[in-house]
Amino acid sequence: MEVIKGDCLTHQQFVKQLRPDRNLGLELVRATEAAAITARNFIGRGDKNAADGAAVDAMRSFLATVDMQGIVVIGEGEKDNAPMLFNGELVGSGQGPMCDIAVDPIDGTSLAAAGRQNALSVIAVTDRGAMLDASSVYYMNKLVAGKAGVGLLDIRLPIAENIRLLAKATNKDVSEIVVACLDRPRHEKLIEEIRAAGASTRLLLDGDVAGGIQAAMESSRIDICVGIGGSPEGIVTTCAIKALGGFIQGTLSPRDEQEAEKALAKGLKLDYVYEADEMVNSNNTLFVATGITDGSMLSGVRRKGSIIETDSIILRSVTGTVRRIKSEYQLDKFIK
Ligand code: FBP
Repeated sequence: MEVIKGDCLTHQQFVKQLRPDRNLGLELVRATEAAAITARNFIGRGDKNAADGAAVDAMRSFLATVDMQGIVVIGEGEKDNAPMLFNGELVGSGQGPMCDIAVDPIDGTSLAAAGRQNALSVIAVTDRGAMLDASSVYYMNKLVAGKAGVGLLDIRLPIAENIRLLAKATNKDVSEIVVACLDRPRHEKLIEEIRAAGASTRLLLDGDVAGGIQAAMESSRIDICVGIGGSPEGIVTTCAIKALGGFIQGTLSPRDEQEAEKALAKGLKLDYVYEADEMVNSNNTLFVATGITDGSMLSGVRRKGSIIETDSIILRSVTGTVRRIKSEYQLDKFIK
């Protein structure tokens, strides 16, 4: 570990230099770009495991070159089932900031495999020890919105009430409110309630990370993202929401008794509303994503002759910066 020590450095400064900083975001985007470029070969080929495997490989080899001492808190699963980027794996060069990292080499593996829109490659990072490991429960019920929702919305309220509150706070008519949620049978009643309240729905085939982020972005048409999706995705989304200054709450939604017991054994709370600060207990977060297929937030990877173009976003909570990065890779020089 390379750290600057000396009499002139206060304890606070010393600790600070072990925290993820802005440069890390610029380094990590290389890993999401690599995963997206590699996944491109699998778009529309119908094999989601092959796509995911290739993206994981690419992300992992780029992460190894990044100066950080990262621990994968949200990864590709348990060690035995996931040979790479498993929960607890150490990633990075072993030098530099100590951090918790969440990786989703492809959010929307089925989307990518089918050639559908909105597949992303994602990394989120925060201070070491700050990220809640919610991965023992597959699903989390989430409510995400922009700044106007902070201190106002509540996942315990009926969705109609949250819609009404947000409409009032944003000076919109309820009929202008767009609510995103995953298009799943489990959301049938929720979808009915949204429409009965007078709002409209944006049904997502997959990929509620992008849905949540868009709910928090003022420039997007989505006002709220709600419903049950992956709990790892909930933690990843929280890192982004912290940077955008938006609102997120989550409750774990175990699939069965066994999962509930596993969660309790890991110290997770059930029937409990996790606030953003409990899911990510730091205001120092980075969220990095690169588009794999075209989507409303990012364009997908594109080949133009001998050049491959990528479109990425870096969100940093310390400054609230939203940085958009377009890269051009020379195909013959892209090293996997
Ligand atoms: P994967 O890319 O890991 O398949 O996740 C896609 C996704 O749509 C997530 O964005 C979402 O949180 C989760 O799956 C929802 O799970 P399910 O498809 O079981 O409803």
